[in-house]
Amino acid sequence: MCGIIGIISREQVADRLVDALKRLEYRGYDSAGVATLEDGTLTRLRAEGKLVNLAARLADHPLKGTIGIGHTRWATHGAATEANAHPHATPRLAIVHNGIIENYRELRTELEAEGIVFESQTDTETVAHLVTRELERGQSPKDAVHTVLQRLEGAFSLGFLFNGNEDLLICARRGSPLAIGEGKGEMYLGSDAIALSPFTDDIRYLEEGDFAVLTHDSVSIFDEDGRPVTRPIRKSVGKAFYVDKGNHRHFMQKEIYEQPEVLSHTLGAFVDMSSGRTRIPDGQDLDFSKIRRIALSACGTGFYAALVGRYYFERFAGIPCDLDVASEFRYRESPLGDVDLALFVSQSGETADTLASLRYAKSQGLKTAAIVNVQESTIARESDFVLPTLAGPEIGVASTKAFTCQLMALAALAIRAGVDRGVITPERELELTRTLTEAPRLANEAIRLEEVIERLARDMATKSHALFLGRGFSYPLALEGALKLKEISYIHAEGYAAGELKHGPIALIDETMPVVVVAPHDRSFEKTISNVQEVAARGGEIILITDASGAASGAVEGAQMIVLPDMPEILTPIVYAIPLQLLAYHTAIQMGTDVDQPRNLAKSVTVE
Ligand code: AGP
Repeated sequence: MCGIIGIISREQVADRLVDALKRLEYRGYDSAGVATLEDGTLTRLRAEGKLVNLAARLADHPLKGTIGIGHTRWATHGAATEANAHPHATPRLAIVHNGIIENYRELRTELEAEGIVFESQTDTETVAHLVTRELERGQSPKDAVHTVLQRLEGAFSLGFLFNGNEDLLICARRGSPLAIGEGKGEMYLGSDAIALSPFTDDIRYLEEGDFAVLTHDSVSIFDEDGRPVTRPIRKSVGKAFYVDKGNHRHFMQKEIYEQPEVLSHTLGAFVDMSSGRTRIPDGQDLDFSKIRRIALSACGTGFYAALVGRYYFERFAGIPCDLDVASEFRYRESPLGDVDLALFVSQSGETADTLASLRYAKSQGLKTAAIVNVQESTIARESDFVLPTLAGPEIGVASTKAFTCQLMALAALAIRAGVDRGVITPERELELTRTLTEAPRLANEAIRLEEVIERLARDMATKSHALFLGRGFSYPLALEGALKLKEISYIHAEGYAAGELKHGPIALIDETMPVVVVAPHDRSFEKTISNVQEVAARGGEIILITDASGAASGAVEGAQMIVLPDMPEILTPIVYAIPLQLLAYHTAIQMGTDVDQPRNLAKSVTVE
């Protein structure tokens, strides 16, 4: 995750750009930079490391100008060097970027074939040259940006400054948030309202696919087809406290929407995006070639992530895994014989049961690793290896973005383990990590199904019970979907392995029992569908979450369908979590429950 800022003013802007970047440093701080138009000419200053280094550079070489853009970076493509720091520039423009351009390699090859010489390893620079090429073909800056946006794949937000034009900033969003602030004879763009809070609390949030043209006195917003649209001004509460809901009703919805961005950020911790190789964060010496067996343990949603992790480690690395809810692990006193690593999953890093199990594992002499979202938490501090989910603060009690980031971390770790153990070739590693880079875009496409899901939630809200079914990689998703629904809507819900239905639960099926089936068209699809037909034959109401291939099979007549794009199996747990989150969220809204703070619950259960 990175932070971007832009200001168009009649006053000097360099210092305010840096101040705004300070409020964005929580999004990443490997390097930083600013660009302004000084007497109409593009000037740029960048520095490796924390923002203080850039501030020191600016003290020695002040940048003048009343228009500028800035960036604080969390490296994904290319090392954290000055050459890779944003803004990137060509003689015609400067650009700042947050997110991932999935198809940048093909685009870069196309440009290099035309003689373009790159100065960095980043995906961002590719966009700079593409827009420059359109300008040189005679397009206006707005049309040049719009043309290029239609060629980009991925989840990102962008900001542009054009050489010689002191009354123009352009920005765009797809999958990563972008806010526009309105001042008196000034306009601002930023990754969130927090960055803009000292300048204004009149904020417009760009919607999916929007791009905007800012001048001193105007904001023109366009949808992905280039049609003018309006986005309402909202009073930001960015000043009031560090994290606000942005333009969402609840933190849970905001955090669902943040998933494309934080997935790319978490991926960047475990995959070097320029080489495509997996890595253990911060160079920790976690070597899976020496690990014969893993004991996985967690609570709640973390446990369901760990269950997906078991499928991943066993499928991709051939490492056998034990799995326990943490509250059982420490009392089961299982013989840990060939277990060489205890791996814990926890958003808060403070869950008492998980912490107690970590301490039990250490008492048994095991190496311990923790996948945590709070790096300074107790579980992180007491683990031998800390594996970060970079989801950012998760305020909603029902875990969403932390869960999918846990899955992203587990997928990357399983690939790493397969490489360490020699069961994944270097070519296969590149293929798998390239697949993981598709997750942010696919998550974004899943989020865009919200209206369809909201309609299904109206009917779900009339029910008293629900069943969730899944098989293989989708079985943990069935469990997680049931947990999401029950913990925020208070409707009783159970998740089952689809194959288990006929061993008892099918007795529950009648027209009052909705059955949500998680069934991508993977190796388990046909078997799962035969279970679903058993439900249909008994009058059960079915919601089928599948993909285009699954829907085309026409396998379940009368089922209400949520259709996701086709995708490789490794991505399905991550992307299929999103419709389950949205179904629970909108059902809870229909029920009028307290979505962000459901009754009887706490965000972190620090008692056993
Ligand atoms: C998830 O939606 C719940 N809020 C709960 O099950 C949670 O996952 C569990 O308490 C574990 O919390 P942790 O990830 O912070 O350890």
